Amino acid sequence: LAAHTGMRVGTAVDTSALANDATYRAAVGAEFDTVTPENVMKWEVVEPEQGRFDFTQADTLVAFARAHKQKVRGHTLVWHSQLPAWLTSRSWTAAELRPVLREHILTEVGHFRGRIWAWDVVNEAFNEDGSLRDTIWLQVLGPSYIADAFRWAHQADPKAILFYNDFNIEGVNPKSDAVFALLTQLRRQGVPVQAVGAQGHLDTQFPIPTGIVQNLRRFADAGMDSAITEADVRSVLPVDATESAAQSAGYSAMLQGCLLVRRCLSFTVWGFTDKYQWVPGVFAGEGSAALWDENFRPKPAY
Ligand code: G3I
Repeated sequence: LAAHTGMRVGTAVDTSALANDATYRAAVGAEFDTVTPENVMKWEVVEPEQGRFDFTQADTLVAFARAHKQKVRGHTLVWHSQLPAWLTSRSWTAAELRPVLREHILTEVGHFRGRIWAWDVVNEAFNEDGSLRDTIWLQVLGPSYIADAFRWAHQADPKAILFYNDFNIEGVNPKSDAVFALLTQLRRQGVPVQAVGAQGHLDTQFPIPTGIVQNLRRFADAGMDSAITEADVRSVLPVDATESAAQSAGYSAMLQGCLLVRRCLSFTVWGFTDKYQWVPGVFAGEGSAALWDENFRPKPAY
């Protein structure tokens, strides 16, 4: 249905389910034209010891994608979460940490050069009020780590589309205002950041974000592409008919937002089946966030 629009439809992939569950594997191959590794391109997986890189699991997904003619969204290079212990368990000076970040980005992006369609270069760097999040990167390196990360990623793979990615920036609010201000400023300075990713983790307890089209369009008007990168809509369990309808409305609002903005390149769900979905592990008592239930039956939202 989306083919004529040019918008791609993707999913995050749990690589152990991909290896062990034939029903899951068949659905990933048949239903989507982009894939995002849910975890296996993150720092703790790819560089478990300083300078020792392990791309085995990520390579498996990239090969699967190639065999199924799918594009890959790389996720993610600079984040405050899922960092290896060697990085978080000691203190660093800027002079020590900057080359560590540089080496990580050049090695990972270089390894996949030419095989990654889009990279989530910097992930979740902002707080809800629009200030920069207090992370190891901000504390040690200061705000320039963001521009540095994009420059190094571009150096290692000039053709990949480089994204800034965050949650709660689907609509217009102080956080998306701050992301917009930073990205337009970076681009004026010649920093190679080409796109914004709105993750799209919604909850039927809260209103659907307002101004999704307006928000994606302002990035387009400023010369940037966009994407919905991690869509899901969770509820307090058990789900009743009202919550099911609200879930459909949440997915629809994000999908329509992307379809209505020509520069919105893809709509990716963060897992397509409740059988392998991150929400219950993080939000106690919540779940049913995916388009398909645990038995791979599509819900009305699908
Ligand atoms: O792989 C280990 C396993 O060896 C170990 O036995 C087990 C015990 O806890 O943990 C496993 O690692 C887990 C990993 O997922 C793989 O399943 C981690 O504990 C768990 O924390 C991790 O959660 C991931 C989460 O990011 C980490 O913050 C979720 O799967 C993943 O869906 C989630 O994805 C994030 C995006 O990257 C960024 N945006 C938000 C989104 C949802 O939180």
